[in-house]
Amino acid sequence: MSSIIKVSGPTVQASKMSDSFMYEVVRVGNEQLLGEIILMRGDVATIQVYEDTGGLKIGDPVKPLGELMSVELGPGLIGSIYDGIQRPLPVLALEWGDFIQKGATVHRLDPKRKWRFTPLVKDGDVVQTGTILGTVQETKRIAHKIMVPEKVSGKIKKIFSGELTIRDTVAILESGEKIKLAQKSNIREPRKTCGKLPHQVPMLTGQRVLDTLFPIAEGGTAIIPGGFGTGKTVLEQTIAKFADADVIVYVGCGERGNEMADVLHEFPELKDPRYGSSLMERTILIANTSNMPVAAREASIYTAISIAEYYRDMGYRVAVMADSTSRWAEALREISSRLEEMPGEEGYPPYLASRLGSFYERSGRVRCSGRPLDIGSITIIGAVSPPGGDFSEPVTQASMRMASTYWALDYDLAHQRHFPAINWLNSFSLSLSSLSSWYIENLDEHWVEMVADMNLILQRETELLEMVKIVGLDAMGESERIELEAGMIIREGFLRQSSYHETDAYCSMEKQRKLLSLQLFYVSSLRDALQNGLQLEEILDTPVKESVIRLKEVRDSEIDSGVEQIEAELKAYFRKRLGK
Ligand SMILES: Nc1ncnc2c1ncn2[C@@H]1O[C@H](COP(=O)(O)OP(=O)(O)OP(=O)(O)O)[C@@H](O)[C@H]1O
Ligand SMILES: [Mg+2]
Repeated sequence: MSSIIKVSGPTVQASKMSDSFMYEVVRVGNEQLLGEIILMRGDVATIQVYEDTGGLKIGDPVKPLGELMSVELGPGLIGSIYDGIQRPLPVLALEWGDFIQKGATVHRLDPKRKWRFTPLVKDGDVVQTGTILGTVQETKRIAHKIMVPEKVSGKIKKIFSGELTIRDTVAILESGEKIKLAQKSNIREPRKTCGKLPHQVPMLTGQRVLDTLFPIAEGGTAIIPGGFGTGKTVLEQTIAKFADADVIVYVGCGERGNEMADVLHEFPELKDPRYGSSLMERTILIANTSNMPVAAREASIYTAISIAEYYRDMGYRVAVMADSTSRWAEALREISSRLEEMPGEEGYPPYLASRLGSFYERSGRVRCSGRPLDIGSITIIGAVSPPGGDFSEPVTQASMRMASTYWALDYDLAHQRHFPAINWLNSFSLSLSSLSSWYIENLDEHWVEMVADMNLILQRETELLEMVKIVGLDAMGESERIELEAGMIIREGFLRQSSYHETDAYCSMEKQRKLLSLQLFYVSSLRDALQNGLQLEEILDTPVKESVIRLKEVRDSEIDSGVEQIEAELKAYFRKRLGK
């Protein structure tokens, strides 16, 4: 009988395990805590335990389960709130009280709930991994496609229909194999696809600084590094609310419990801005807060991405938000030190970068397995919390190398309460050029030039502000004062966007275009007025300045009239001043 020979923090060692294999799931101790084998040496297995190991002792039994760590995939995932190993949190709280009972086994999906299954194939059809057998309307927005699981193919002997539970059979193959409404998938192994596709479409977030300056591609990866309190969590949550994705998987990984509680309370109440239904109708939350066991934190990222892959395989656009990948890396570090592995930089294991890489690699726009004409995608947005805001630390550096988009949060901007505190000088999007044709075709043929103008204004402002620091504002020339004003207009009127403002929290792409176009028009009018000999004071003090900055707060339906009014008033003002 296998038993514990050593307990070390979140890991234990067990002997007489020679029949076991790597990543096998085991039950540990009398309380049957869930664990996973992460190292095999001879007949000794090292197991990471997903629950609090307090109370375990040498000689306690260990029971291998003969299966890999998996997620259960089927209707009912959407709207769920899970811990790192896919145990539903509200159900646990209901059945076991507020704290998760050790060794608790609960259903990951409701086994009793009936779903109306509508078949899309018929008896005699030949199916393979990924073929859609039929659908279940999971929420108003999501038709859950029941797919042939991995490594299964053949001819259908019988397809069922009607009200089924997740344990019921939907199809029997000629081989006798039964396919159920729900299936399991190994969390450590990416689900197969028919290949990745180039990034061509942005995943719009409704955040102006992101969509306009540093867009993320659908299927791309972004990281949000930022020091303490710079707005990582608010940005992740805002994107989760407004991103143009079909399904959102939000992982709160090692963050404070109260932050996750905010999400748990807020999301069910919030309305999806595009469809009007509850945001939970497209969201799955995975909460593994700082007070929960560290090994489950390590698993939470894989649980999330496996669920995301399942919806991607249905042909959906999925976004995975991870807050914070640094806490996940810390879990890796802790487990690695318990394994007495040789530490790399700052104590992180030498495989930190490759682990991070294998997570980000699971993003992408892909051709769906079994149906190569269908396309699904996973976009990953990971927050990084460098200690002391020092971006040269290993997790930020390693993440930076994987990400196609880099949204650097800036302590000074956050301090000035300029939110989102994204530093426009050192953030970047490698997808900018591949996405530009989308913007040109779908938004404005002059979009690239408009954004270039905006960038020039911002760069010029930065240079001039450096000079102001040295010589003072009064020593600046008139045209320089106009350029400083231009920078202020773009910063205040465009980049700054409060997540708490009723209308401004989300900005459609069309509204972004109209705002930018108006602001560029305003700036060029100021420049022209100077050329035409108007006094600086009069140029800097137009009657519409405030309205230009505040137009972002106006509803979409009122933008056009707002723009028209501002333009007319501005023209009239300059005409009068210039005596024309
Ligand atoms: N986009 C935003 N709009 C308005 N306010 C914001 C925004 N982002 C951040 N804030 C303000 O900054 C505060 C801190 O933000 P947040 O909790 O997201 O920081 P964080 O980087 O996640 O911090 P930590 O390092 O503690 O995890 C918020 O409580 C809010 O007041
Ligand atoms: Mg945070």
